[in-house]
Amino acid sequence: MKLLEAVDLTKVYADRASGPFGRSRPGPPAVDGVSLELRRGETLGLIGESGCGKSTLARMLLRLEPPTSGRVLYRGSDITDWKFGRMRRVRSRMQLVFQSSAASFNPSFTVERIVAEPLRNAGVKSAAERRLRILETLESVGLGAAYLDRLPAELSGGQQQRVGIARAIVLRPEILILDEPFSSLDFSLRRQAMELLAGLKEQLGLSYLFITHDLSIVGRFCDRAAVMRRGRIVEQRPGAELMNEASHPYTRMLLDSIPARHPADRTYRLDRTYK
Ligand SMILES: Nc1ncnc2c1ncn2[C@@H]1O[C@H](COP(=O)(O)OP(=O)(O)O)[C@@H](O)[C@H]1O
Ligand SMILES: [Mg+2]
Repeated sequence: MKLLEAVDLTKVYADRASGPFGRSRPGPPAVDGVSLELRRGETLGLIGESGCGKSTLARMLLRLEPPTSGRVLYRGSDITDWKFGRMRRVRSRMQLVFQSSAASFNPSFTVERIVAEPLRNAGVKSAAERRLRILETLESVGLGAAYLDRLPAELSGGQQQRVGIARAIVLRPEILILDEPFSSLDFSLRRQAMELLAGLKEQLGLSYLFITHDLSIVGRFCDRAAVMRRGRIVEQRPGAELMNEASHPYTRMLLDSIPARHPADRTYRLDRTYK
């Protein structure tokens, strides 16, 4: 079943610097006619160089930004023009995890207050119920009650990302869009965080759109992967297949540029099979 669908989505930003006397002219499309679907229960990887339009696509799918043209479908309904009130229910079903959760936290809020925010917005009025759900959610991301009163600055990068995930799943959404969520973490922490996400997906019946630079994640965790270049999808395949049989020269270029961080990865680079 198709949960979320992009149909011919295009975004053109005004090219701020281009026109004479500071007038803006349309630049090349940041996203250029992208059609993509996220099916229930899958992890769809979205990869491509910085600036190719991944985050813009994600923001349009989440209806955080209007497309210049094209449609967004949620469970088959065209939500492209839905107004605030009608979007509210859908919003709670799809959540975003940012590259740097810490940057999106109010630094003076405790972990409890950060994770409580979506619950308050959704109208959960009882403080006791909120606390219960926060505790349950923190535990599911591997953080216990001891973290309730911590401030973001008192957490490690890995813990901050866990709080970001907790905030995203506290309303029990069905879709998570993860926009390069672990790029600031080192290799072993990234692995752990991916294992956590894989577990949550099973436990909570989630579907993921996983935007990443890290191609080793694609082969291991993505059911399918889409490769984006200059606003377009140039290749789409099952994750493992993409790693082994990428056909588009751009995808091969991305694969060849995977840095070998670990001896095990070097083997992978040479024979293209994931160890
Ligand atoms: N708000 C904006 N205003 C103008 N240009 C933007 C804006 N957001 C993104 N862009 C441009 O759109 C292109 C795609 O950006 P982005 O979606 O952030 O790429 P990615 O996430 O793949 O790195 C880039 O050229 C970027 O400079
Ligand atoms: Mg981005």
